Amino acid sequence: MSDFVTAYAPASIGNVGVGFDMLGLALSGAGDRVQARRTDGDSVTVAEVRGLDGKLHPYLSTKADENTASIAAQALWDVHGDAGGVDLKVLKGLPLQSGMGSSAASAVAATVAINALLPSPLAVEELLPFALEGEKYASGGIHADNVAPSLFGGLVLCPDVLLPEIIRLPTPAGVSAVLLYPDLQVNTAQARKALPKSVSTKLWLDQQGLLAGFIHACASGDIELIGRTLRDVIIEPHRKDAVSCFDDVVAAAMRVGALGCTLSGSGPSIFALCKDSDAENIASVMEQACRVGGTACQSWVSSMNAPGACIEA
Ligand code: HSE
Repeated sequence: MSDFVTAYAPASIGNVGVGFDMLGLALSGAGDRVQARRTDGDSVTVAEVRGLDGKLHPYLSTKADENTASIAAQALWDVHGDAGGVDLKVLKGLPLQSGMGSSAASAVAATVAINALLPSPLAVEELLPFALEGEKYASGGIHADNVAPSLFGGLVLCPDVLLPEIIRLPTPAGVSAVLLYPDLQVNTAQARKALPKSVSTKLWLDQQGLLAGFIHACASGDIELIGRTLRDVIIEPHRKDAVSCFDDVVAAAMRVGALGCTLSGSGPSIFALCKDSDAENIASVMEQACRVGGTACQSWVSSMNAPGACIEA
């Protein structure tokens, strides 16, 4: 085992409510691991994919062209690798189709692990396009709002129009993220196809204003302004009905002091931002509201400055 390098990549909150496809937040406490080692082969292979229970994953493919980890790894190895191949072991810590950036975390962890095997490893900023190749396979489009925060940590602005450049945004002191994962599944590729192809100028202006205000609120530590701007007037109305507990969980979180509460990525996960001192209570109230409706769930509390992917000793 000693010839394996292990990389960890955290879960992430895509969109962060206000910035569809262009704003993402890393989450601590949950993530995927990828182990990689060199082989005498000539490509990237996947030896196994296991879940947190240590068992072989019941759904994820070990076919190299059907796994976000190996697709990202192969993209990087093709350009910067040398002779030989690479074998991967994927340890899934994140549930599939959960709105926690599961496919992105595998792609990021694989990219970071492969980078450590390169003759001349790249700077972390240079890894983004390769990790995005894996994410593209899973979600059916290029959006970096899960890959970028999983790779870099913290709050990241990553609009398609600027890629591969991303902007790491300042985060406010004293604000935590709470993420609730209801035991449901939403297929991101399908959820994206179901969105309307156009929006009114009024909605577009409102959402632009909210995004600009939210970024300023985070940078200036204006907690009250975070509360007024953490809203999604364009995407949430089209997606929330796919998450049966959504209205109850959001109402419960807001009742006990959340600054805002909406879908994480395409759902089913729901996240809230709140004062640090409210976070544990909000997590427990969100869980309760979800369970009362008959859906099992799990929650995490994270700083807004969660670290990004890393190599583990
Ligand atoms: N921005 C993506 C979407 C994130 O909302 O479709 C998916 O996790």
